[in-house]
Amino acid sequence: MSDLKNKVIIITGAAMGLGLATALEAAATGAKLSLVDYNAEALEKAKADILEKYPDTEVLTVTADTSDEEAVKNYVQSTVDKYGTIDGFYNNAGIEGKQAPLAEYDLEVFKKVIDINLLGVYFGIKHVLPHMQAKNYGRIVNVASVGGIRGVMNQTPYVATKHAVAGITKNTALEYARFGITANAIAPGAILTPMVAGAFKQVNPSDPAAAEAEYAKANPTKRLGKPEEVAKVVCFLLSDACSYVNGQVIAIDGGQSNSYGNV
Ligand SMILES: NC(=O)c1ccc[n+]([C@@H]2O[C@H](COP(=O)([O-])OP(=O)(O)OC[C@H]3O[C@@H](n4cnc5c(N)ncnc54)[C@H](O)[C@@H]3O)[C@@H](O)[C@H]2O)c1
Repeated sequence: MSDLKNKVIIITGAAMGLGLATALEAAATGAKLSLVDYNAEALEKAKADILEKYPDTEVLTVTADTSDEEAVKNYVQSTVDKYGTIDGFYNNAGIEGKQAPLAEYDLEVFKKVIDINLLGVYFGIKHVLPHMQAKNYGRIVNVASVGGIRGVMNQTPYVATKHAVAGITKNTALEYARFGITANAIAPGAILTPMVAGAFKQVNPSDPAAAEAEYAKANPTKRLGKPEEVAKVVCFLLSDACSYVNGQVIAIDGGQSNSYGNV
């Protein structure tokens, strides 16, 4: 378990899925949390769940849409106002959009995916960086996807924005490593969160479990990943121990993105 004792960590998209799993893992080792989500009700429930399990955890919640730059400035400033500093940033909020071939993709949804998955990620880094630069220390973990390494059928804007997150991560590392800051991205495969459950419902509305089983067949491990399996990698990347891994896009996918042909 990576030690995050007294580290101030901002997590976006913290109300459920990969964000909440990382909040729980970070709380387990004593991190001070700043949790951001646009679903205020789910965010308060997430806070209650964390405090039930780890009652001594300091938890700030900020309701914000990460695609709104003013709201991003506010969650960063609220964190600094409460804790005085920022050590780590898990830049996780993202949406899938919808499933449709490129030429039939709805433009409004396309733009929304860009606003959240690309601009939201950029705004977060932009406003967190000065606080990290000032102390010559910081850990940034962006969330790409296997869709940021490879194509995924019927998900053009998702794939485009996740490739962009990989690019932003590499540039952040190049430009800010000299200030003691690491910026890495994770590239999860299919991890069973509410987002992925929703995708299986779109693929096979009458039998989402069949869609999940079909998907798992192509994975060398023959199963989907669990949010906790991602959270452990993220907490390492957010920790002091991650001092010389920088600018990387790390697949967490049971080995699936390495394969060519049937497994
Ligand atoms: N689950 C997977 O298999 C998987 C795979 C690859 C990448 N990812 C990425 O991981 C991240 C988290 O995914 P998840 O599966 O936990 O999703 P999820 O839908 O289960 O949870 C996402 C959370 O982010 C919040 N959110 C979304 N947009 C927001 C915004 N603009 N402002 C504030 N909060 C916002 C939602 O309210 C929700 O609480 C996303 O960036 C996603 O693309 C997930």
